[in-house]
Amino acid sequence: MTLHEKTKASLITAMHGEAFAYAKYIAFAEHARKNANPELAGLFEETAKVEFFEHFAEEAQLAGLVGTDIENLQDAISGENYEVETMYKEFAEAAGKAGDADAAARFSEVRRDEAKHRAAFRSVLDRMQPTQE
Ligand SMILES: [Fe+2]
Ligand SMILES: [Fe+2]
Repeated sequence: MTLHEKTKASLITAMHGEAFAYAKYIAFAEHARKNANPELAGLFEETAKVEFFEHFAEEAQLAGLVGTDIENLQDAISGENYEVETMYKEFAEAAGKAGDADAAARFSEVRRDEAKHRAAFRSVLDRMQPTQE
């Protein structure tokens, strides 16, 4: 099952969109429920489920997103590492320079969480491959 590079890139982009739509609709549903609009909350929740459990899941299947446990850990570590060393680091610095202190503080706080995630994944991976490194 080899996909063209462009198709693979399209799947990754589509999965980001579907995952964001899922999270956003869950947040919208929560808001609607707090504002005594359970019907709208239900619509957002039902739609969110389709975005995630059908659209995202089917695209993930096509993209071969989920691998072996070891592959999944390596992928997760690489993602968390990017967030810690590049993304949140730069976001916090840029927000600080722009004068958005709250955002800068939140980015830094989230960055520390991502470092914990990375450490937890690394620790499990190290136990799974004791001969490496
Ligand atoms: Fe969708
Ligand atoms: Fe994380």
